[in-house]
Amino acid sequence: MHRFLYISTVRRTLSDAELEDILVASRRNNRLADVTGLLVVGNRRFLQVLEGPEDAVNSTFSRISKDQRHYAVVQLNNKAIAARSFARWEMGFQRGGDVNEGSTLEEQVASLLEPVADANLKAYFSGFAKSHSQPAGETTNMRH
Ligand SMILES: Cc1cc2nc3c(=O)[nH]c(=O)nc-3n(C[C@H](O)[C@H](O)[C@H](O)COP(=O)(O)O)c2cc1C
Repeated sequence: MHRFLYISTVRRTLSDAELEDILVASRRNNRLADVTGLLVVGNRRFLQVLEGPEDAVNSTFSRISKDQRHYAVVQLNNKAIAARSFARWEMGFQRGGDVNEGSTLEEQVASLLEPVADANLKAYFSGFAKSHSQPAGETTNMRH
């Protein structure tokens, strides 16, 4: 079982209908691939966690990373896990707070997670972002 976490930037502001398209396709594909997770969207950033069998997570991410609706896809964490944290969600969805340009990764993740109620989940993500904090301008475009 693997967990994969990344952050990316929206190419242009997406309408509710466009976000809905992403979620419908994600839930359909993830159910078939045994992938679960959470997608958080701020005004210009996505934060997504994908969990499942390693091959399934990698092939899902490789498709997502080529998606033209976002760019500057930065992998934050990819590791083996004993159990899923998002087992109930084929792809949960949460709208995040405002993300300011030029803020650090830690600040961006904190903003995105502001509306998330689950304290453990918040601690997990913000602790992770803290240990990987970097100025937003230094993010790179990763291709797999
Ligand atoms: C931010 C973001 C997150 C996405 N998450 C997923 C996902 O979890 N699973 C998935 O299959 N596709 C996801 N997609 C969509 C894929 O990039 C791709 O469009 C889709 O998998 C194609 O599915 P289809 O061939 O069934 O239409 C995401 C796209 C974006 C922009």
